[in-house]
Amino acid sequence: MKKEIENINEAPIGIFDSGLGGLSICKEIISTLPHESIVYLADSANTPYGEKSKQEIIDLSIKNTDLLLEIGCKAIVVACNTATTNAIEVLRDKYNVPFVGIEPATKPAALQTKSGKIGVLATKGTLNSDLFLSTSNQFRDELEIIEAEGENLVRLIEKGQLAATKPLLEKYLMPMIDQGVDNIVLGCTHYPFLIPIIKEIIPNDITIIDSGEAVAKQTQNVLEQEGLLNHRAKSGVNTFYTNNNLHVLQDFLNRIELTANNIAFREF
Ligand code: DGL
Repeated sequence: MKKEIENINEAPIGIFDSGLGGLSICKEIISTLPHESIVYLADSANTPYGEKSKQEIIDLSIKNTDLLLEIGCKAIVVACNTATTNAIEVLRDKYNVPFVGIEPATKPAALQTKSGKIGVLATKGTLNSDLFLSTSNQFRDELEIIEAEGENLVRLIEKGQLAATKPLLEKYLMPMIDQGVDNIVLGCTHYPFLIPIIKEIIPNDITIIDSGEAVAKQTQNVLEQEGLLNHRAKSGVNTFYTNNNLHVLQDFLNRIELTANNIAFREF
């Protein structure tokens, strides 16, 4: 049953991802909007989304949104490029709450590149989506976009095996480096956890771009426009649910120094 919250402004922001990747977005949202409460769903039991069909990604996104609305969230952040690029239009049509999504930051990279070549590392589901294609096609006349599918990276991250991603990252990033990219877009919210390893591979004059801060800013703008900001002086309450391994979730929260008020296993 949907929880009724007396003052909608005090309701939490709902955030979901196929697993732990969206925690990198959560961290930015909490630091930009410290008075907001958040409820985070790590759908790790169904990870990776990037290898599923569009319809499967839509169904999972609806399942996650239904739970967040049942909990009483006032707005939803789809903290997953794969879910945004495949499902956000359906979500916006179906529900009467504001949605904020995340897509690979092709535009900032396009504005910033000097070599005219940028790399995009993302999941298969994102790279094949209509939304990504239409955004990236806007820039293809002026610049070369070298794409790489980060096959198996999400699986290893979800198991907490970050060091094991290095040979894969070398395989995906070396062709971009060889072709002269000067910006690499991390088009999956799991990948910021790999930045220390990526930095060991790429020359330091290549800029790594991720969209975490931009999504937090956009969340703030949307809440402001909708009159939904929480104006209380107290800090928000941060709740995290996983439908898989609680220890891995706790480990990732520790890694990024994010404090949870509540953390629990929950079936969804
Ligand atoms: N964090 C998701 C994204 O941003 C990961 C996708 C997956 O589960 O494959 O695309």
